[in-house]
Parts: sequence; structure tokens; C-alpha cells
Amino acid sequence: MDMIIKNGTVVSPTGMYKADILVDNGKIMAIGSFENVKAEKEVDARGLYVLPGAIDVHTHLAAPFQGGISADGYMSGTRAAVCGGTTTVFDYPVQHKGQTIHEVVNEKKEICEKEACSDYAFHCAITDFNGGEILDEMEDAVKDGIASFKCYLVYKKEGQMADDGMLVQLMMKGKELGAMINVHAENPDLIDVLTEKYASEGKLSPWYHYMSRPEFVEAEADKRVVHWATHLDAPIYIVHMADKEGLLACLRAKAEGVPVFVETCPQYLEFTCDVYKREDGRNFVCSPPMKGEESRQALWKAVSDGMIDVVATDHCPFMSYEKDWGKNDFRKIPNGCAGIENRYPYMLDAANRGRISFERAVELCASNPAKIFGCSNKGTLTPGKDADIVLYDPDLDFTVHIENMHSDYDHTIWEGIQMHGYPVQTYLRGKLVYDHGEYVGKPGDGNYVKRDPVMR
Ligand code: URP
Ligand code: ZN
Ligand code: ZN
Repeated sequence: MDMIIKNGTVVSPTGMYKADILVDNGKIMAIGSFENVKAEKEVDARGLYVLPGAIDVHTHLAAPFQGGISADGYMSGTRAAVCGGTTTVFDYPVQHKGQTIHEVVNEKKEICEKEACSDYAFHCAITDFNGGEILDEMEDAVKDGIASFKCYLVYKKEGQMADDGMLVQLMMKGKELGAMINVHAENPDLIDVLTEKYASEGKLSPWYHYMSRPEFVEAEADKRVVHWATHLDAPIYIVHMADKEGLLACLRAKAEGVPVFVETCPQYLEFTCDVYKREDGRNFVCSPPMKGEESRQALWKAVSDGMIDVVATDHCPFMSYEKDWGKNDFRKIPNGCAGIENRYPYMLDAANRGRISFERAVELCASNPAKIFGCSNKGTLTPGKDADIVLYDPDLDFTVHIENMHSDYDHTIWEGIQMHGYPVQTYLRGKLVYDHGEYVGKPGDGNYVKRDPVMR
């Protein structure tokens, strides 16, 4: 036996209990009480919680976007991930005109084989329907374990936008294949109209990023997507939900059995649009923008009521100099913020303070992402699954500073945020990769996660 983790409190999505965990060959062998079992390595987890490694199903690593390149590449992004207890990272490579899904994903896979510090998977963002050829390519991609795709309903001038025709065809094909279609839901025409209006009035501070993409801009697209899902009976996964009106439309549809899945991100739980009035407001520019307090409260309610399915990060940080391009013109600020190292600790902090349960934090950050996206070896501490394990000290206080993060960016919107409780060790398939503040793994430790299609 390679390892025994003794005396910890194991957290599953349905309960917490004292138990030991046996690990061999990167897998969980058994969970129970094993007083007489000897292992090569013995870890005493007394006083600690033993959690499944989290899965971040929404990141943009080394992504060329809006004139910049997101500041975390595959090495630093996945390194930061494991240092925050996330052991599997999904990236969103974007198909550019004429590219096949295989070309897009294989290029990234080659980089990850050398660089990834966590396990990794891909959703491919589709931008070119290629006269329908993409539908055949989806079949092959699903066979290769790429069981999800993305449509951006925005980013027209960036050449990434999918129209409704493409979205509904991908949704129907996704339903047939057991593949999930993920969607960034905002109305692009409304954004253009409002952006032009404010620009013509000389209103170009970061506040007008929010004003040009307010609540109703997101809500319209959320409702449109729910409409397609309802009438096609085809599953849809709405990424980075940030507004109350759209959220409530999704929750109503869910209650009626429509296969709508909802993701939000910690930035929408922590901050409101007031951040855009701050002197460093440009750093918070992401799309959709943070909304008003009513939306923030509605998101928290759905998180604690069990109605939101996943909390992911949308990790897409840019360097200060890139954010500065638009300090006097919000249209020039590359959109995106950091979070890959902060999300699991943030949600566990919410559990530690009693806002949600630890079981719910695990469900949102690990077991639901695994279920929804077909990672059959991940997401819970269960015999036979990968030994992706986080030891969490509920008494350790931690304050986020750029200096104690493990990314390559030079600022974070989480600066100064205090957490009560923090991960102290992360094991990736049984290998210690994070230990009390230090990254101790090596690039290339990560494996590709071949996913199963999920019929819904
Ligand atoms: O502002 C964001 N979210 N940047 C990354 C691209 C996206 O829309 O997810
Ligand atoms: Zn997006
Ligand atoms: Zn994103």
C-alpha cells in the first residue's frame, strides 16, 4: 500500500465522517478504519478535513484575447490550481476560422503533456460551423473524450460569436451524442448599442463596462437559451451566471424538468458592480460584469438552496499593463479576472463560516462538475477513483496576497481577502503536489482526462 491518510474527517457530497483512506497506485483503495494496515507513507490528518480535489471546468489559459494573452499559461495556471486544491482543470481552446476540433485540441494537449501540473481536459469553443462539418467532427471529438463544446453568444468583433442558428444545431447534436453545450449568454447587439451610446457621450471609465452590459443584457440571452433548451429538450450549461432575472428563469425551467445547468463564479458571489467605481476598477473588468447587490444575493441563495450546479472560476487574468490599456477607455481593457487558486478555498471558507455546508462546497466544486462533464474517475473520495485528495485545516487563517499565490499574473482581484480555513496539502493521483504553501510537484505531472458522454 502506498499511503494511508489517518484520522481525518472525510467530506463527501452527502456527509462527513471520521475515516482513514488507503491509496495505492494513484487510486483510492478503501475508506474505513484500518488500525493495523501498514503503508509506505502515513499521513496524520487529525484535526483536518479530507476533501476530494476540486475540478475547475472554466478556465482560459495562455488565451489570446482582445489584444492580450491571458497571463497564466498551462504550467502556471495548473500549478496555481493545485495550490488551491483544484486537481483537474478544464481549458477552453477556441477554434479559429477553418480549424478542426482536433487541430485545436491536439495543439493544447501537446503543451499540457509537458507543462500541466494538474490533470486537464478541454471544452472546444466553436466559432466556425464549416458548412455543418463541425457536427461530424463533434462525433469524433466525443470518442476522444471531448464531451463538451462552447458557444459564445458575444465577442462579435473578436470573431468568436456563434449565432442562434449555430447554437441550436450544436445543442441538437450535443443531445444526440451525450455532449454538453456550454454557452456564454449576453446579447451582443444590445452591448454594441449601449457601448456606442456611452462612447458618443464620452463615458468611457470602467463603470461604463457595467453600464453597457447591465442585468437585462444578460437576462435576455439567458432566457433565449432556456427557450431553446425547453423546446428542443436539449441540455445546456450556462457559464458564469451573474444576474438575478436570468438565474430565476433558469431555476423555473429546471423545476419544470428542462435540462438547464447553471454555473456561477466566486467573483459574482463576492463583488458587485460597485467595484467599477473604484480607482482599480479596470482590474475587475470581465464579461459578464459583476451586477448589483440583488443579483449577488440571488446567486448566494441559489448556491445555498442547491439550485446552482457548479461554481467554477472563468480564470482569465491579464497583467496590469494590459488592463491599463483601457484605464481611460473601457473598450480597450482585456476582459477577465483570476480565480483558479481562490475558488475552492473561498467556497470552503463560506462553509467554515456556516453560509453553506462543507458537503455543498464539495458538490459545487468537485462532484457536480465530474458528473455533468463525464469525469468518471474524479469528483468524490470513493474506492476505485483517482486519489485526488485535499487536506484542509479549518483553523488556519489565510489572507490572499499576490505574493502567496502561485500564478504568473501581477495582481489579483482577491488581494486582501481573508479566509478562515485553508488547504494544507494536495495530492494528485496519490502524489503530493502542494504542501503548506509550497508547490512541490513538477510540470508534466498532469494527465489528460478522457471524458465519457453523458446521456441526459
Ligand atoms: O471576461 C471574461 N470572462 N473573459 C474570458 C472570456 C469569457 O467570456 O469567458
Ligand atoms: Zn464568457
Ligand atoms: Zn470564460
